[in-house]
Amino acid sequence: MKIAIIGGGPAGLYAAILLAKQRPEAEIIVYERNRADDTFGFGVVFSDATLDNFEKYDQPSYRRITQEFAYWDDIAVYFRGTAHRVGGNGFCGCSRRKLLLILQQRARELGADLRFETEIDEQSRFEDADLVILADGINSRFRETHIDHFQVEVDVRSNYFAWMGSSKPLDAFTFIFQETEWGPFIAHAYQYEAGRSTWIFETDPKTFERAGLKGLDERRSADRMAEIFGWFLGGHQLLVNRSMWRNFPMIRSKRWVKGKMVLLGDAKATAHFSIGSGTKLAMEDAIALAEAMARAPTVAAALELYEQGRREEVEKTQHAADVSLVWFEHVDRFWEFDPVQFAFGVMTRSKAITYDNLKLRAPDFVTEVDKAFAKQVRAKGFDVDVQKPLVPMFQPMRLREMEIKNRAVVSPMCMYSAKEGVPSDFHLVHYGSRAMGGAGLIFTEMVCVGREARITPGCAGLWNDEQEAFWTRIVNFVHANSAAKFALQLGHAGRKGATKLMWEGIDRPLEEGAWDIISASPLPYFPDSQVPRAMDRSAMTAVTAAFVAAAERGERCGFDMLELHCAHGYLLASFISPLTNQRSDDYGGSLENRLRFPLEVFEAMRAVWPKHKPMSVRISATDWAEGGITGDDAVQVARAFAQAGVDLVDVSTGQTVQDAQPLYGRMFQTPFSDQVRNEARVATMCVGNITSSDQVNTILAAGRADLVALGRPHLVDPAFAIKAAAWYGAQEVFCPVQYLPGKEQIFRNSVRDRQDFDELRIKAKPKTRAELKAEATKPLAAE
Ligand SMILES: Cc1cc2nc3c(=O)[nH]c(=O)nc-3n(C[C@H](O)[C@H](O)[C@H](O)COP(=O)(O)OP(=O)(O)OC[C@H]3O[C@@H](n4cnc5c(N)ncnc54)[C@H](O)[C@@H]3O)c2cc1C
Ligand SMILES: Cc1cc2nc3c(=O)[nH]c(=O)nc-3n(C[C@H](O)[C@H](O)[C@H](O)COP(=O)(O)O)c2cc1C
Repeated sequence: MKIAIIGGGPAGLYAAILLAKQRPEAEIIVYERNRADDTFGFGVVFSDATLDNFEKYDQPSYRRITQEFAYWDDIAVYFRGTAHRVGGNGFCGCSRRKLLLILQQRARELGADLRFETEIDEQSRFEDADLVILADGINSRFRETHIDHFQVEVDVRSNYFAWMGSSKPLDAFTFIFQETEWGPFIAHAYQYEAGRSTWIFETDPKTFERAGLKGLDERRSADRMAEIFGWFLGGHQLLVNRSMWRNFPMIRSKRWVKGKMVLLGDAKATAHFSIGSGTKLAMEDAIALAEAMARAPTVAAALELYEQGRREEVEKTQHAADVSLVWFEHVDRFWEFDPVQFAFGVMTRSKAITYDNLKLRAPDFVTEVDKAFAKQVRAKGFDVDVQKPLVPMFQPMRLREMEIKNRAVVSPMCMYSAKEGVPSDFHLVHYGSRAMGGAGLIFTEMVCVGREARITPGCAGLWNDEQEAFWTRIVNFVHANSAAKFALQLGHAGRKGATKLMWEGIDRPLEEGAWDIISASPLPYFPDSQVPRAMDRSAMTAVTAAFVAAAERGERCGFDMLELHCAHGYLLASFISPLTNQRSDDYGGSLENRLRFPLEVFEAMRAVWPKHKPMSVRISATDWAEGGITGDDAVQVARAFAQAGVDLVDVSTGQTVQDAQPLYGRMFQTPFSDQVRNEARVATMCVGNITSSDQVNTILAAGRADLVALGRPHLVDPAFAIKAAAWYGAQEVFCPVQYLPGKEQIFRNSVRDRQDFDELRIKAKPKTRAELKAEATKPLAAE
């Protein structure tokens, strides 16, 4: 077998090693344009988990790599004169040059033919090869030659970065966030061998310009960085080696294989340096390819297997890298944060690390985070304990004069079980049990402001006395038997009206008994849905009056809070999104125009809703569709509602158009809440695939939302909040007197359960290499 590898970086060399081991008879040639010891960059990082992988696949190179590595366990965050350290991270660094020399030596030992100073520009010279590995890096010529086939997307990010080195010793992976007269600069730094550390500097485009870095040569820009970070470098020099400032290209390829050619490493996909995974991904690609070659009967089958088996892992890493890079791009959002909350945000930015996880590894740090959170709550006039604070989830909050005992919220969820809009005993039990389960705030489902405002025949309403009477009964029950506050969500289905019950076909048009529907523009939801009538001025007046009348009824029912539903493609949302609003009057066109009607409705309701009671608005912060609402628009939308008197923005996403492409995942809508809260400076509630109290605390402590709503988790577990309270020892949680023995038991058991759980996790977690190294070098105690 003949294998040609273009590119002698980590991907190409490791592929050569693994394939040479697997097929000693194969002719493997690596073509590299540079000299053998010519390399850019300074150090590379690997996590303990990645090293475990290397150990499994090639012991000799693993041993040599680990002999050369610097280990560390801590991440340190420097911000506004403070330093916070968190242990238990298990990372190692090594010089890129040494890594390549080790891999080259090992590849040669195994019989691979390494040809340096050989630039490949023609693929025709590999016609007789059985397999051609394109490991030619981020600017891959061969990926570009077949750009249409590989379906490459390149997203060039806005921040500038430059890779430098230093002789400064470091004992932690170090992030330094530095305010300057031009704006914020960030250093990502780590030691990779004795007396050598990598320094990646990053800044936004405006700060880059203001600091005069544009056009400065390598040396002078390094001097500028040395001035900024001199206080930390303590006289150590910054070293350069092709350390030009550039923008990070996020590369994705829909296909990785063309005939016998396959993309590996940076050539196929990149991951932002802030999660230190470029070299790891490159080498793990080589592992995946070698595995596939061992398992499949032909090269073609192996390449297919490689692509199928590897894609999910690569996309997961890229997603984590994406989230992380966005955090760094928007660091100015958090610049005013308390430093410990800021550091918590750095640690938890890419979702892999959570509140509970940090509590186990760095309990003192998390206690500090809790204290800072409690101090903010105290500053708002609550008499909370700052010395022994409760976790963020159980810290109270105030919206106007409404006080919420904790920050776990039951999200609005349609039950499709009303008759002619009248709720039933089902609703009484449903809301009653969730209120008794300890949630601080519960929302009604979308309550429709008129018969023709309903989504389905099963939707609840508040347009007549019978409905008002039943809702009053539910509100009274909730207030009499729980400490929960109760918010009424009012909405109008718009073009998604006259559809079937959820379990009979969500958003599908009714076959019988449909009513006429209205929207911003006459666009059906599905091609076979009813075509809505575009609203004229008189329809707007009527709809506004219906919202106002329902708000007045809501006040008479005794609801504590009112939410206006402007999300999910329903009537008011259909005005906000350009995908569903094609009007040419004052209510269409610019975002300001598209917001006009929803704001008119909001203001009319605000005028009749009591001043001391809060109001929120639910928005879709992105349509997840080309040409639709984006996070930046959502900030404008939130600002406009805040000006009109909104107290809380309930940040959901999507459901505007049926061909949207949402990116689901854990807490997938939280970044939008983060953006709205910290750019528009309004209180937010986030929601969406948040399933544990650990996630709730992570979001709150990092300042990404003020309240956290859980929908589906509350459907199956009305006592979500009380269980979480037991886990965190938050005795203050409300429990009906009738249920107190249950509360006592779960609180008692939770202490032991938690200890057992923590012990198990500590036992299950293998020691990091830094810990092992520290143990091995510890002097023996005197006998
Ligand atoms: C300036 C810079 C500095 C970096 N520094 C670091 C760092 O310090 N630490 C870290 O972890 N990561 C660093 N990275 C990222 C890291 O290099 C990559 O993620 C990782 O090396 C990917 O490995 P690879 O084998 O896919 O590609 P590369 O390491 O880029 O290897 C590709 C190789 O192909 C060769 N090549 C390209 N085209 C041809 C051709 N036509 N003919 C012959 N040879 C060719 C190149 O010379 C190169 O050696 C840096 C990236 C850049 C851009
Ligand atoms: C059965 C069901 C009904 C829903 N009805 C509503 C509703 O009436 N109003 C609304 O704003 N959101 C509604 N939603 C969306 C939820 O409030 C929530 O945003 C969504 O379920 C995501 O949160 P989760 O992952 O915690 O479930 C509904 C969701 C479900 C599952």
